[in-house]
Amino acid sequence: MTIDLSKSDLVVAVFGAGTMGRGIAQVCAQAGITTLLYDARDGAVAEAIAAVGKGLDGQVAKGRMTEEAKRDVMARLKPMTTLAEAAPAGLVIEAIVEDLAVKRDLFRALEDIIAPDAVIASNTSSLSVTEIAAGCAKPERVGGLHFFNPPPVMKLVEAIAGLRSEPAMAKELVGFIKRIGKVPIVATDTPGFVVNHAGRAYGPEALRIVDQGIASAAEVDGLMKEAAGFRMGPFELLDLVGGDVTHAVMESIYGRYYDEPMYQPSAQMAVRVAGGLLGRKSKQGFYDYSATPAVSPPTVAISAQPKPVSVWVADEDGGADLAALLQSAGIAVTLGGTPGTEGVLFVTPLGEDCTAAALRLKLDPARTVAVDMLGRFKGRYTAMKNPLTAPEALGAAVAALGATGAPVTAINDSTGFVVQRIAAMIVNVGCRIAELRVAAPLDIDTAVELGLNYPKGPLALGNLLGPAAVLKVLDGMFALTQDPKYRATTWLRRRAMLGVSLHTPD
Ligand code: NAI
Repeated sequence: MTIDLSKSDLVVAVFGAGTMGRGIAQVCAQAGITTLLYDARDGAVAEAIAAVGKGLDGQVAKGRMTEEAKRDVMARLKPMTTLAEAAPAGLVIEAIVEDLAVKRDLFRALEDIIAPDAVIASNTSSLSVTEIAAGCAKPERVGGLHFFNPPPVMKLVEAIAGLRSEPAMAKELVGFIKRIGKVPIVATDTPGFVVNHAGRAYGPEALRIVDQGIASAAEVDGLMKEAAGFRMGPFELLDLVGGDVTHAVMESIYGRYYDEPMYQPSAQMAVRVAGGLLGRKSKQGFYDYSATPAVSPPTVAISAQPKPVSVWVADEDGGADLAALLQSAGIAVTLGGTPGTEGVLFVTPLGEDCTAAALRLKLDPARTVAVDMLGRFKGRYTAMKNPLTAPEALGAAVAALGATGAPVTAINDSTGFVVQRIAAMIVNVGCRIAELRVAAPLDIDTAVELGLNYPKGPLALGNLLGPAAVLKVLDGMFALTQDPKYRATTWLRRRAMLGVSLHTPD
């Protein structure tokens, strides 16, 4: 069998006219392809086509499209009322309900209708392409085209070949994705492909931080945006996507990777979902959307103190950088050596909590405050206390950091602060995706930047922080928590030990 999706007269048939199908059909029609649209529910196709028309009217009104171009797109978008009308299709894109048996039934029925060399691609998010294909007479013609919501806006499409797909499948799908103006990446047929796999670090680790009372959702969001440079905080994102959707993906990935601890879902999130605190769609999630959002109180109360005249800073892992910043704010700093008997003692650990850092360095815990210098690509500081830190010491530490002109978030003790641990998990999950050969290293970054809108892909983020520093964070977290979810992947460990980029192939 030879498949060819580059034919100029290619016809695409989209099945399912819901959220995804209508957007996919629009994208194909906009790329000049005759596109047929089918849905099992009466009236659904007409609704979808009307919605596409309305969306394009908006584009015309904004001057982004001419009226004529809109008419051409709409003329290429044709409703189907029976499966038999899909006969001319060289490519079927399936975006129906996420149910293996229903998808297999549709594929089997279509095989009797479409040409022998026509390709059937599923937009499934959580099923295996190989498994769907196994229900077909010709599994070699089945592949995956995983679009993102909303398809007309999201640039990325993942191309997936099943284990029994025609050898040319990935290449043909990539060609088609480019033809419709999107950015392709090739993923193997593994749970969550790249994007839904790579997304299993940001929200879940943030949830653990809140579950452990280290910081509030708003504080974590503030740090991830203002210290780490993410466009949305993890809780804003959870509320936008919906706790039910996110939690279901989390459970699916966790289950399909046979309880890999790295992907463990949050028990608290399950309660929130059961209680209907889903986010924007239910008007209540981590934030309240029904009225003016209430300002959440800080997790750690700070007793206001004057800026200290002098402080001591441990001379390791970014301590010198902190010392320089404090000095430039007019504070006398002693960097390293034996601290005096009074004043704040700053530590800047990697993957260690304030308690462990104070004890390891034989410092008085009551005077010790930890600052995250690794997880601070942007302005905001994290000041972390331990259970014995005196309120005056924390207050003085916050005043000292504030004197440098940057805002400060005070948190309870955490191995890896907030940003270090979330960033390290993102990098480590990205490394696991590379290690499992789900996609090429650069494609993993492209997928995450375009599919998840992170400022950097996970491997590029690891390179920015330094693979050795990320490894130190994870090893520290693993040593202190004894929790297997923090064990570093060998992909990361080898490259950190060799001192090379996380993009380095084997
Ligand atoms: P949806 O519920 O909005 O639309 C599904 C449509 O399929 C409905 O209009 C339904 O009437 C129709 N349908 C159900 N069974 C059918 C059948 N046997 N034949 C023809 N039409 C049938 O669902 P949505 O969100 O568009 O998802 C569709 C697929 O895309 C699923 O596989 C989902 O996992 C996947 N997906 C969804 C994303 C999302 O963000 N919503 C993102 C990426 C993939």
